[in-house]
Amino acid sequence: FNIMEIPDLSSMKLPSRPELFDFEGVSMVHYFTDNWENVKNFQARPDDILIATYPKAGTTWVSYILNLLYFGKDGTSEPIYMRVPFLESCFKVIPSGTELADNLPTSPRLIKTHLPVQLVPKSFWEQKSRIVYVARNAKDNAVSYFHFDRMNMAEPEPGDWNTYLQKFIEGKKVFGSWFDHVSGWWEKKQTYSNLLYLFYEDLAEDTGREVERLCSFLGLSTSVEEREEITKGVQFDAMKQNKMTNYSSLPVMDFKISPFMRKGKVGDWKNHFTVAQNEQFDEVYKKKMKNTTVKFRTEI
Ligand code: A3P
Repeated sequence: FNIMEIPDLSSMKLPSRPELFDFEGVSMVHYFTDNWENVKNFQARPDDILIATYPKAGTTWVSYILNLLYFGKDGTSEPIYMRVPFLESCFKVIPSGTELADNLPTSPRLIKTHLPVQLVPKSFWEQKSRIVYVARNAKDNAVSYFHFDRMNMAEPEPGDWNTYLQKFIEGKKVFGSWFDHVSGWWEKKQTYSNLLYLFYEDLAEDTGREVERLCSFLGLSTSVEEREEITKGVQFDAMKQNKMTNYSSLPVMDFKISPFMRKGKVGDWKNHFTVAQNEQFDEVYKKKMKNTTVKFRTEI
Protein backbone atom coordinates (compact mmCIF):
# COMPACT_ATOMS: atom_id res chain seq x y z
CA PHE A 1 0.00 0.00 0.00
CA ASN A 2 1.46 3.30 -1.14
CA ILE A 3 0.41 6.23 1.04
CA MET A 4 0.76 8.66 -1.87
CA GLU A 5 -1.46 6.82 -4.32
CA ILE A 6 -5.20 6.49 -4.58
CA PRO A 7 -5.84 2.76 -4.16
CA ASP A 8 -8.00 0.78 -6.53
CA LEU A 9 -10.40 -0.65 -3.98
CA SER A 10 -12.02 -2.99 -6.48
CA SER A 11 -8.79 -5.01 -6.57
CA MET A 12 -8.31 -4.99 -2.80
CA LYS A 13 -9.67 -7.23 -0.14
CA LEU A 14 -11.39 -4.76 2.16
CA PRO A 15 -11.59 -5.64 5.84
CA SER A 16 -14.92 -7.02 7.00
CA ARG A 17 -16.85 -4.64 9.20
CA PRO A 18 -15.94 -4.86 12.89
CA GLU A 19 -18.34 -5.45 15.78
CA LEU A 20 -19.05 -2.83 18.42
CA PHE A 21 -18.27 -3.78 22.04
CA ASP A 22 -18.11 -2.13 25.41
CA PHE A 23 -14.67 -0.91 26.43
CA GLU A 24 -14.47 0.68 29.89
CA GLY A 25 -18.03 1.90 29.47
CA VAL A 26 -17.52 3.28 25.95
CA SER A 27 -18.59 1.65 22.66
CA MET A 28 -15.53 0.73 20.63
CA VAL A 29 -14.21 -1.43 17.80
CA HIS A 30 -10.97 -3.37 17.99
CA TYR A 31 -9.06 -0.94 15.74
CA PHE A 32 -8.91 1.46 18.68
CA THR A 33 -8.27 -0.99 21.50
CA ASP A 34 -5.82 -3.49 19.92
CA ASN A 35 -2.90 -1.22 20.83
CA TRP A 36 -4.30 -0.17 24.20
CA GLU A 37 -1.25 -0.95 26.36
CA ASN A 38 0.84 1.41 24.26
CA VAL A 39 -1.90 4.04 24.18
CA LYS A 40 -2.38 3.96 27.92
CA ASN A 41 1.36 4.22 28.55
CA PHE A 42 1.96 6.78 25.81
CA GLN A 43 4.57 9.35 26.80
CA ALA A 44 3.23 12.78 25.98
CA ARG A 45 5.58 15.77 25.84
CA PRO A 46 4.97 19.27 27.19
CA ASP A 47 5.04 20.72 23.67
CA ASP A 48 2.68 18.12 22.16
CA ILE A 49 -0.58 19.47 20.83
CA LEU A 50 -3.49 17.10 21.07
CA ILE A 51 -6.45 17.61 18.72
CA ALA A 52 -9.43 15.95 20.36
CA THR A 53 -12.88 15.51 18.83
CA TYR A 54 -15.90 13.28 18.61
CA PRO A 55 -15.60 11.68 15.14
CA LYS A 56 -16.75 13.95 12.28
CA ALA A 57 -16.62 17.21 14.20
CA GLY A 58 -13.92 18.85 12.08
CA THR A 59 -10.79 16.96 13.15
CA THR A 60 -9.13 17.03 9.74
CA TRP A 61 -9.91 20.70 9.27
CA VAL A 62 -8.25 21.76 12.53
CA SER A 63 -5.41 19.25 12.05
CA TYR A 64 -4.58 20.80 8.72
CA ILE A 65 -4.79 24.35 10.07
CA LEU A 66 -2.32 23.46 12.83
CA ASN A 67 -0.09 21.59 10.41
CA LEU A 68 0.10 24.71 8.20
CA LEU A 69 0.61 27.04 11.16
CA TYR A 70 3.57 25.05 12.45
CA PHE A 71 5.16 23.62 9.33
CA GLY A 72 3.89 25.71 6.41
CA LYS A 73 4.51 24.18 3.00
CA ASP A 74 6.95 21.65 4.48
CA GLY A 75 4.03 19.88 6.06
CA THR A 76 2.01 19.46 2.90
CA SER A 77 3.76 16.66 1.04
CA GLU A 78 2.41 13.76 3.09
CA PRO A 79 -1.17 12.72 3.85
CA ILE A 80 -2.58 14.33 6.96
CA TYR A 81 -2.99 10.93 8.64
CA MET A 82 0.80 10.55 8.55
CA ARG A 83 1.51 14.13 9.67
CA VAL A 84 -0.96 14.02 12.55
CA PRO A 85 -0.96 10.52 14.05
CA PHE A 86 -4.30 9.17 15.23
CA LEU A 87 -3.20 8.13 18.72
CA GLU A 88 -5.38 5.09 19.46
CA SER A 89 -5.59 3.79 15.87
CA CYS A 90 -4.21 0.44 14.88
CA PHE A 91 -5.36 -0.23 11.30
CA LYS A 92 -2.40 -2.40 10.19
CA VAL A 93 -2.29 -0.74 6.71
CA ILE A 94 -0.25 2.07 8.28
CA PRO A 95 1.79 2.05 11.50
CA SER A 96 -0.21 2.43 14.71
CA GLY A 97 -0.83 5.93 16.06
CA THR A 98 1.63 5.52 18.92
CA GLU A 99 4.34 4.24 16.56
CA LEU A 100 3.82 7.15 14.19
CA ALA A 101 3.80 9.66 17.04
CA ASP A 102 6.97 8.22 18.58
CA ASN A 103 8.75 8.52 15.24
CA LEU A 104 7.56 11.88 13.97
CA PRO A 105 10.56 13.72 12.53
CA THR A 106 9.20 17.19 13.30
CA SER A 107 8.15 18.96 16.46
CA PRO A 108 5.99 19.97 18.08
CA ARG A 109 4.02 16.80 17.56
CA LEU A 110 0.41 17.23 16.48
CA ILE A 111 -1.60 14.24 17.65
CA LYS A 112 -5.23 13.41 16.97
CA THR A 113 -7.56 11.54 19.28
CA HIS A 114 -11.27 10.72 19.43
CA LEU A 115 -11.08 9.39 22.96
CA PRO A 116 -13.59 10.62 25.51
CA VAL A 117 -11.78 12.69 28.12
CA GLN A 118 -11.64 9.96 30.79
CA LEU A 119 -9.69 7.61 28.49
CA VAL A 120 -6.96 10.07 27.47
CA PRO A 121 -3.52 8.76 28.53
CA LYS A 122 -2.53 10.36 31.81
CA SER A 123 0.81 11.66 30.58
CA PHE A 124 -0.99 14.39 28.60
CA TRP A 125 -2.35 15.80 31.87
CA GLU A 126 0.95 15.32 33.71
CA GLN A 127 2.92 17.06 30.96
CA LYS A 128 0.27 19.78 30.69
CA SER A 129 0.22 19.40 26.91
CA ARG A 130 -1.99 21.82 25.07
CA ILE A 131 -5.24 20.44 23.75
CA VAL A 132 -7.58 21.76 21.07
CA TYR A 133 -11.05 20.25 21.31
CA VAL A 134 -13.48 20.71 18.42
CA ALA A 135 -17.21 20.17 18.86
CA ARG A 136 -19.91 20.12 16.19
CA ASN A 137 -23.65 20.44 16.66
CA ALA A 138 -25.22 17.06 17.37
CA LYS A 139 -27.50 16.80 14.37
CA ASP A 140 -24.91 17.61 11.72
CA ASN A 141 -22.41 15.46 13.58
CA ALA A 142 -24.80 12.49 13.43
CA VAL A 143 -25.46 12.98 9.70
CA SER A 144 -21.78 13.26 8.89
CA TYR A 145 -20.99 10.16 10.96
CA PHE A 146 -23.75 8.21 9.19
CA HIS A 147 -22.29 8.91 5.74
CA PHE A 148 -18.80 8.18 7.02
CA ASP A 149 -19.88 4.81 8.36
CA ARG A 150 -21.53 3.93 5.06
CA MET A 151 -18.25 4.28 3.20
CA ASN A 152 -15.70 3.30 5.85
CA MET A 153 -15.25 -0.46 6.14
CA ALA A 154 -13.42 -0.01 9.47
CA GLU A 155 -16.74 1.02 11.05
CA PRO A 156 -19.65 -1.22 12.03
CA GLU A 157 -22.51 -1.55 9.54
CA PRO A 158 -24.55 1.66 9.87
CA GLY A 159 -27.97 0.36 8.74
CA ASP A 160 -30.48 2.87 7.42
CA TRP A 161 -30.66 6.46 8.62
CA ASN A 162 -33.35 5.90 11.22
CA THR A 163 -31.61 2.86 12.70
CA TYR A 164 -28.43 4.88 12.77
CA LEU A 165 -29.99 7.85 14.49
CA GLN A 166 -31.41 5.65 17.24
CA LYS A 167 -27.95 4.16 17.84
CA PHE A 168 -26.46 7.64 17.92
CA ILE A 169 -28.99 8.68 20.56
CA GLU A 170 -28.14 5.60 22.64
CA GLY A 171 -24.40 6.27 22.34
CA LYS A 172 -23.89 2.97 20.51
CA LYS A 173 -21.34 4.46 18.15
CA VAL A 174 -17.59 4.08 18.00
CA PHE A 175 -16.18 6.39 20.74
CA GLY A 176 -19.47 6.31 22.56
CA SER A 177 -22.08 8.95 23.17
CA TRP A 178 -21.78 12.37 21.50
CA PHE A 179 -23.53 13.87 24.54
CA ASP A 180 -21.02 12.44 27.02
CA HIS A 181 -18.10 13.34 24.78
CA VAL A 182 -18.83 17.04 24.27
CA SER A 183 -19.94 17.57 27.86
CA GLY A 184 -17.07 15.54 29.38
CA TRP A 185 -14.49 17.61 27.54
CA TRP A 186 -16.35 20.81 28.43
CA GLU A 187 -16.16 19.95 32.13
CA LYS A 188 -12.44 19.28 31.79
CA LYS A 189 -11.93 22.75 30.34
CA GLN A 190 -13.20 24.25 33.60
CA THR A 191 -10.17 22.90 35.50
CA TYR A 192 -7.50 22.36 32.83
CA SER A 193 -6.36 25.69 31.44
CA ASN A 194 -4.36 24.34 28.50
CA LEU A 195 -7.53 23.39 26.67
CA LEU A 196 -9.10 25.41 23.87
CA TYR A 197 -12.68 24.40 23.05
CA LEU A 198 -13.67 25.28 19.48
CA PHE A 199 -16.88 24.83 17.51
CA TYR A 200 -17.21 23.68 13.90
CA GLU A 201 -19.91 26.30 13.37
CA ASP A 202 -17.53 29.09 14.42
CA LEU A 203 -14.90 27.82 12.01
CA ALA A 204 -17.50 27.78 9.25
CA GLU A 205 -18.67 31.28 10.08
CA ASP A 206 -15.24 32.90 10.13
CA THR A 207 -12.24 30.65 9.64
CA GLY A 208 -9.77 33.55 9.86
CA ARG A 209 -11.05 34.56 13.28
CA GLU A 210 -10.70 30.99 14.58
CA VAL A 211 -7.19 30.74 13.12
CA GLU A 212 -6.35 33.86 15.11
CA ARG A 213 -7.86 32.33 18.20
CA LEU A 214 -5.70 29.23 17.71
CA CYS A 215 -2.60 31.39 17.26
CA SER A 216 -3.23 33.26 20.46
CA PHE A 217 -3.88 30.04 22.41
CA LEU A 218 -0.68 28.49 21.05
CA GLY A 219 1.41 31.64 21.41
CA LEU A 220 2.16 31.81 17.68
CA SER A 221 2.87 35.07 15.98
CA THR A 222 1.88 35.07 12.33
CA SER A 223 1.47 37.90 9.86
CA VAL A 224 -1.90 38.90 8.46
CA GLU A 225 -0.73 37.59 5.06
CA GLU A 226 0.24 34.20 6.50
CA ARG A 227 -3.09 33.87 8.23
CA GLU A 228 -4.95 34.84 5.07
CA GLU A 229 -3.05 32.27 3.05
CA ILE A 230 -3.77 29.55 5.58
CA THR A 231 -7.42 30.49 5.72
CA LYS A 232 -7.62 30.18 1.94
CA GLY A 233 -5.84 26.82 1.88
CA VAL A 234 -8.18 25.27 4.43
CA GLN A 235 -11.48 26.12 2.77
CA PHE A 236 -13.64 23.09 2.04
CA ASP A 237 -13.10 23.01 -1.75
CA ALA A 238 -9.34 23.35 -1.40
CA MET A 239 -9.19 20.51 1.13
CA LYS A 240 -11.52 18.36 -0.93
CA GLN A 241 -9.23 18.68 -3.97
CA ASN A 242 -6.09 18.20 -1.91
CA LYS A 243 -4.93 14.56 -1.93
CA MET A 244 -3.05 15.13 1.31
CA THR A 245 -6.21 16.06 3.18
CA ASN A 246 -9.06 14.25 1.43
CA TYR A 247 -8.11 10.74 2.63
CA SER A 248 -8.31 9.42 -0.94
CA SER A 249 -5.28 7.19 -0.35
CA LEU A 250 -6.55 5.26 2.66
CA PRO A 251 -7.74 1.82 1.52
CA VAL A 252 -10.59 1.33 3.98
CA MET A 253 -12.85 4.01 2.55
CA ASP A 254 -15.05 3.55 -0.49
CA PHE A 255 -15.45 6.97 -2.06
CA LYS A 256 -17.94 5.59 -4.56
CA ILE A 257 -20.37 5.41 -1.65
CA SER A 258 -19.52 8.82 -0.13
CA PRO A 259 -16.40 11.02 -0.13
CA PHE A 260 -14.55 11.91 3.06
CA MET A 261 -14.93 15.62 2.24
CA ARG A 262 -18.65 15.24 1.77
CA LYS A 263 -20.47 18.59 2.06
CA GLY A 264 -18.75 20.64 4.75
CA LYS A 265 -21.93 22.53 5.60
CA VAL A 266 -23.69 23.69 8.72
CA GLY A 267 -27.33 22.59 8.79
CA ASP A 268 -27.21 19.60 6.43
CA TRP A 269 -29.21 17.72 9.07
CA LYS A 270 -32.32 19.44 7.69
CA ASN A 271 -31.95 17.26 4.60
CA HIS A 272 -31.99 14.10 6.72
CA PHE A 273 -34.14 14.46 9.83
CA THR A 274 -37.89 13.96 9.45
CA VAL A 275 -40.14 16.19 11.56
CA ALA A 276 -40.74 13.25 13.93
CA GLN A 277 -37.04 12.44 14.23
CA ASN A 278 -36.30 16.09 14.92
CA GLU A 279 -38.90 16.28 17.67
CA GLN A 280 -37.62 13.08 19.25
CA PHE A 281 -34.05 14.31 19.06
CA ASP A 282 -34.86 17.69 20.62
CA GLU A 283 -36.52 15.91 23.56
CA VAL A 284 -33.56 13.61 24.08
CA TYR A 285 -31.17 16.53 23.72
CA LYS A 286 -32.89 18.52 26.44
CA LYS A 287 -32.67 15.61 28.86
CA LYS A 288 -29.12 14.55 28.12
CA MET A 289 -27.70 18.07 28.09
CA LYS A 290 -29.52 19.44 31.12
CA ASN A 291 -26.53 19.14 33.45
CA THR A 292 -23.92 20.72 31.22
CA THR A 293 -23.25 24.36 30.48
CA VAL A 294 -21.83 23.78 27.02
CA LYS A 295 -23.90 25.77 24.55
CA PHE A 296 -24.21 25.12 20.85
CA ARG A 297 -25.76 27.66 18.52
CA THR A 298 -29.47 27.11 18.23
CA GLU A 299 -29.82 28.62 14.76
CA ILE A 300 -28.53 25.61 12.87
P1 A3P B 1 -19.56 16.43 6.33
O1 A3P B 1 -19.69 14.95 6.32
O2 A3P B 1 -20.73 17.10 6.95
O3 A3P B 1 -19.25 17.01 4.98
P2 A3P B 1 -13.58 14.82 10.69
O4 A3P B 1 -12.40 15.44 10.04
O5 A3P B 1 -13.68 15.06 12.14
O6 A3P B 1 -13.72 13.39 10.30
O7 A3P B 1 -14.86 15.59 10.13
C1 A3P B 1 -15.26 15.46 8.77
C2 A3P B 1 -16.33 16.47 8.50
O8 A3P B 1 -15.73 17.78 8.46
C3 A3P B 1 -17.00 16.28 7.15
O9 A3P B 1 -18.31 16.79 7.28
C4 A3P B 1 -16.11 17.13 6.27
O10 A3P B 1 -16.67 17.48 5.03
C5 A3P B 1 -15.95 18.34 7.18
N1 A3P B 1 -14.81 19.17 6.79
C6 A3P B 1 -13.53 18.79 6.61
N2 A3P B 1 -12.79 19.83 6.19
C7 A3P B 1 -13.61 20.88 6.10
C8 A3P B 1 -13.44 22.25 5.72
N3 A3P B 1 -12.27 22.70 5.32
N4 A3P B 1 -14.53 23.07 5.75
C9 A3P B 1 -15.73 22.60 6.15
N5 A3P B 1 -15.96 21.32 6.52
C10 A3P B 1 -14.91 20.47 6.50
